[in-house]
Amino acid sequence: MIGMRNGAPGRARLAAVGAYVPERVVTNAELERTLETTDEWIVSRTGIRERRYAAPEQATSDLAVEASRAILAEAGVDAADVDVVIVPTCTPDYLFPSVAALTASAIGAHDAAAFDIQAACSGFVYGLAQAAAFVESGLASNVLVVGAELFSRLVDPTDRSTCILFGDGAAGALVRRGDPETTGGFLGFDMGADGSRGGDLIVPVGGTRHPASTPFAREEAFVQMNGREVFRFATRVMEESTLRLLDALEVSVDQVDLLVAHQANRRIIDYAVERIGIDPDRVINNLERYGNTSAASIPLVMAEARDAGRLHPGDLVLMVGFGAGLTWASALARYEP
Ligand code: ACO
Repeated sequence: MIGMRNGAPGRARLAAVGAYVPERVVTNAELERTLETTDEWIVSRTGIRERRYAAPEQATSDLAVEASRAILAEAGVDAADVDVVIVPTCTPDYLFPSVAALTASAIGAHDAAAFDIQAACSGFVYGLAQAAAFVESGLASNVLVVGAELFSRLVDPTDRSTCILFGDGAAGALVRRGDPETTGGFLGFDMGADGSRGGDLIVPVGGTRHPASTPFAREEAFVQMNGREVFRFATRVMEESTLRLLDALEVSVDQVDLLVAHQANRRIIDYAVERIGIDPDRVINNLERYGNTSAASIPLVMAEARDAGRLHPGDLVLMVGFGAGLTWASALARYEP
């Protein structure tokens, strides 16, 4: 439940992370069979070797439900105690109702407020900022933020420049009220958007500008991307946003335990890592196995890092994402399970 007020204002705590990926693995070799592409091209240009595709009967909320259960189990929190469910997604089940509302009901968070955030691959960090604000204002005590994406249904399977990049999955975090004396909390956020660049990454049909009820060309129902422009934008904002945040917080890059960047393209990440000046040993990537899972990609890395013993209680984590909008977002937070 979310109310005026649900609890005393407190420090927000990044209390748990969790993830779910569908079983079906789609390798570059499988894509080679239907597309004019090669494993060598995909690996050298993107770093991606395989991705997961949801089963035909699964929609985005089904992935979000699985990830939500994993996060709550990790936290030891009952779904009935969740006050807000936020689902960052740009591939929802429907235009409405929201994925978050469907997810909240399915997991048993019957008293929770629920809504989606549409900031594409920056969405998870946007969602964390929203969750931290809810908790720190005293409006909520437990906020679930679950990035969930099913891009395999929105990329044109005949377009080699987009369909090689994306995969399906869901992952997220539980943000809880912590002890104001001991909780390190969310140190800060840097977020922005440039809608004048909206056309660089767009699904043109299905909204009010071009309703699905009116005639359209087949490719307009799929993701259209100006890859080179998005690449340029990404390398610029990943560097600028993270350094601006660290500078404002007077935190040196050496104090950061882990950099978790949106998993879009290995070349973009490597460029950002070099420009940020962080030790590459403090960077974890998994895009070679999942491709770009958009709003799920940052917490998917964090959940795997936790499982691999590379994310420890108290670690200072720098997250950075970019995506359609065009948007960008970075956050600095302590992991406090
Ligand atoms: N296999 C083989 N050749 C290909 C493929 C493919 N899968 N895709 C494109 N090519 C060809 C192109 O047609 C082009 O051929 P041409 O020179 O004859 O015209 C050539 O390869 C080079 O194409 P570029 O677009 O210049 O390749 P680039 O090195 O820029 O890589 C890529 C393309 C991987 C898309 C890159 O631009 C990129 O990663 N951009 C960022 C995209 C991104 O991160 N998007 C997600 C944003 S997050 C969100 O909000 C969803």
